[in-house]
Amino acid sequence: RSLASLDASKVKITNVREHSVPKPNDQLVFGKTFTDHMLAIEWTAEKGWGVPEIQPYGPLTLDPSACVFHYGFELFEGLKAYKTSDNKITMFRPDMNMARMNKSAARICLPKFDSEELIKLMGKLIQQDKHLIPEGQGYSLYVRPTLIGTTPALGVSTPDRALLFVITSPVGPYYKTGFKAVRLEATDYATRAWPGGVGDKKLGANYAPCILPQLQAASRGYQQNLWLFGPEKNITEVGTMNVFFAFKNSATGKKELVTAPLDGTILEGVTRDSILTLARERLDPKEWEINERYFSINEVAEKAAKGELLEAFGAGTAAVVSPIKEVGWQGKDIQVPLLPGEQSGALTKQIAQWISEIQYGKVQHGNWSRV
Ligand code: COI
Repeated sequence: RSLASLDASKVKITNVREHSVPKPNDQLVFGKTFTDHMLAIEWTAEKGWGVPEIQPYGPLTLDPSACVFHYGFELFEGLKAYKTSDNKITMFRPDMNMARMNKSAARICLPKFDSEELIKLMGKLIQQDKHLIPEGQGYSLYVRPTLIGTTPALGVSTPDRALLFVITSPVGPYYKTGFKAVRLEATDYATRAWPGGVGDKKLGANYAPCILPQLQAASRGYQQNLWLFGPEKNITEVGTMNVFFAFKNSATGKKELVTAPLDGTILEGVTRDSILTLARERLDPKEWEINERYFSINEVAEKAAKGELLEAFGAGTAAVVSPIKEVGWQGKDIQVPLLPGEQSGALTKQIAQWISEIQYGKVQHGNWSRV
């Protein structure tokens, strides 16, 4: 028996809603406003992928025994669609998100799908609600593909039913404060991910445990926590983002941009990959080394003491680039230098600008922007 594969050409658009009125940009809080429609596709083990439906945004009806509620059969993606300066609507590197989504699905035995077909379907959904894509620097449509197991049974087994849905949300800057340097607290009592685990997959189950360390950091006056791993106290991520540090080597005069390597404990961030690519293409190799390597909070503390810590920033789809100004560690604050009167260092600012120019269509980069 052959199972139906995901087919965008079968899409049905049902009960089209009247256009709602867009909220003014200054009223957009990240992920709290949604557009008029959503995409939903059911999958069953007997038939494969069903007819994709673009339908009014609204509640789902699920059996309370559905395996998503009991055993965490859930994964998601996050990507953004932009209204560009030449009036196109583009998705930023959706192929990367689709590849990662399929990897997440494979890991928790949810069905895989043809990435290109879901990209086309997301395109149709975005098109349907294009009147709600906000315009302007820092504003975009956040797209949230989600896949859940819906088998109504309490036995722990392979889901034989699933639902893939996509919702979209007009967003502005992730942090209310905008492009503003944050203070982090290094967390040494909890671990985000571990070798052989699922830290490189975008499972909802990886995110709920991130809140408590963040709250505890907040209770001591820090905006986010910095995740460490192992007896070496290697720096892995910040909050729900990848993290980059820049150092200088006083002996050689050379500078280094560094982030943790993809060893299975690090989310394979699209922004992370974009930054590494642009840094390798555009920074002068006589001046800069770009490294994916292990580095520890102790190395950062030592370098800071020698004046060799240059910059630090978080990188993710939601906040894009988030500069860091301080890291609390063992009761002291490590200071990260900022440009005088500004919210980041020079490289952080440069990288944020490079990414933004590509996302808003002022500069082309290969096939990163998908119309
Ligand atoms: C990101 O895009 O940086 C995230 O992972 C945050 C998202 C879960 C809201």
